[in-house]
Amino acid sequence: MKYTILLFEDEDDLRDEIKESILLEDMEVHAFNSWESFKKNHSLNHADLAVLDINLMGENGIFVFQQLKNKFPDIEGIIITGQPTTNNAIASLKLGIRDYLEKPFRAKSLIASIKDSESYQNYVSAFNLYDEISTQLDFEFIGNSQVIQTTKQLIHRVAQTNETHVLITGESGTGKELVAKSIHQLSKRKEAAFHSVNCSAIPDNLFESEFFGYEKGAFTGANHDHAGWFEHANGGTLFLDEIGEMNLILQAKLLRVLDEKKVNRLGSHKAISINTRIICATNQNLKKQVEQGKFRLDLYHRLNSFNITVPPLRERKEDIPLLVHHFSTTFTSKENQPKKKIHPEAINSLMNYDFPGNIRELKNIVEKSILMCDTKILFNKDLKNIHSEIETPSISTLNLATIEKETIQKAMNACSNNKTKTAEMLHITRQALNRKLKKFNIE
Ligand SMILES: Nc1ncnc2c1ncn2[C@@H]1O[C@H](COP(=O)(O)OP(=O)(O)OP(=O)(O)O)[C@@H](O)[C@H]1O
Ligand SMILES: [Mg+2]
Repeated sequence: MKYTILLFEDEDDLRDEIKESILLEDMEVHAFNSWESFKKNHSLNHADLAVLDINLMGENGIFVFQQLKNKFPDIEGIIITGQPTTNNAIASLKLGIRDYLEKPFRAKSLIASIKDSESYQNYVSAFNLYDEISTQLDFEFIGNSQVIQTTKQLIHRVAQTNETHVLITGESGTGKELVAKSIHQLSKRKEAAFHSVNCSAIPDNLFESEFFGYEKGAFTGANHDHAGWFEHANGGTLFLDEIGEMNLILQAKLLRVLDEKKVNRLGSHKAISINTRIICATNQNLKKQVEQGKFRLDLYHRLNSFNITVPPLRERKEDIPLLVHHFSTTFTSKENQPKKKIHPEAINSLMNYDFPGNIRELKNIVEKSILMCDTKILFNKDLKNIHSEIETPSISTLNLATIEKETIQKAMNACSNNKTKTAEMLHITRQALNRKLKKFNIE
């Protein structure tokens, strides 16, 4: 999972020092003082890069690299040497060693050289698939997990009806408003208005005039005719957020409007017909509120003709990579910044966090850490600076590579193993698909 480095250095202090600075970068490192000890002790079947001293207890680091290449054909090498000679430099170049650092060097230069390597760039961008997938989803409603696919099906289903009212429940920040907007966008009403009202933010004494509108002179201060929210959203959708906060008197009035499909502006006897779909949302347990006498049972049934419960993010962690890439890409393009790559370990850490604030919290963390991050790649430490509760996991509970593999496997199955179709479906090139198929050993 981690980017893996082999370190060959026979000077103990220097070896420890280099090891330490590599570990700080979230990379895996295996250190040896000779080729012999490597042969005796290692059980690796993968390594990305080797850092080698030239004088290794009588052996030559360049020779060691040659041996390593037989075992790990794609491995890259960086030579560190106290006695630079032209011959060694030429031999290194010929063997495809990518860098040649003279001792003493600063740990920072070595790290920079590692991060410049092709293997490291490949490692970090292995997860770009998520970028590519996310661009094809409708309404930027991101997520491919089983639970969110069910949510999407419900959205599509209810959007085909024209009048059914919808009650959306779910914890704060799970995307309830986005669900409401998606229903509107997918429905026949999409050309008309989507009007959103937060019921907890409106003082009781303004509620009626805002809901129903008023005629000039209806009350002191009513200097002109004013259309209410029902009229504004006529033909479209009225979204009532935090419906659980509405008081009982207004609940009765709302129920009457839903029954009669007519509103009277305050100060007017003329009833105006309205054709508005009502979508409500709440993060409270409305049923319980009904039991406690805080919410009308008849209104509850009326609003709850169709219920969509948006699952919390911790129950669909496999959507996190997609969401992170989505928020990162939209944020950098909005801010006119160059795109950032996200280090897989950073994504891993996010997948190990429970997000009490759900998607809104994830979005904030991603945007803030990108704002504060000066490098092309967003690392784990950039997240930790923003959010101290995000820990580096010792063992990854959810393996990104597994998810990527599954995504590709599913797409291949769906396209009866037709590579051209699969590549199209995943929005990646055929070459990229071939690389991934090879990487994951998919037939
Ligand atoms: N599936 C998703 N894909 C992309 N962005 C999402 C998704 N779900 C939520 N978001 C984004 O997360 C943020 C929070 O979503 P939203 O406002 O819809 O949540 P909410 O459930 O209404 O929250 P609250 O209960 O606090 O009102 C928004 O910026 C929204 O665009
Ligand atoms: Mg909301």
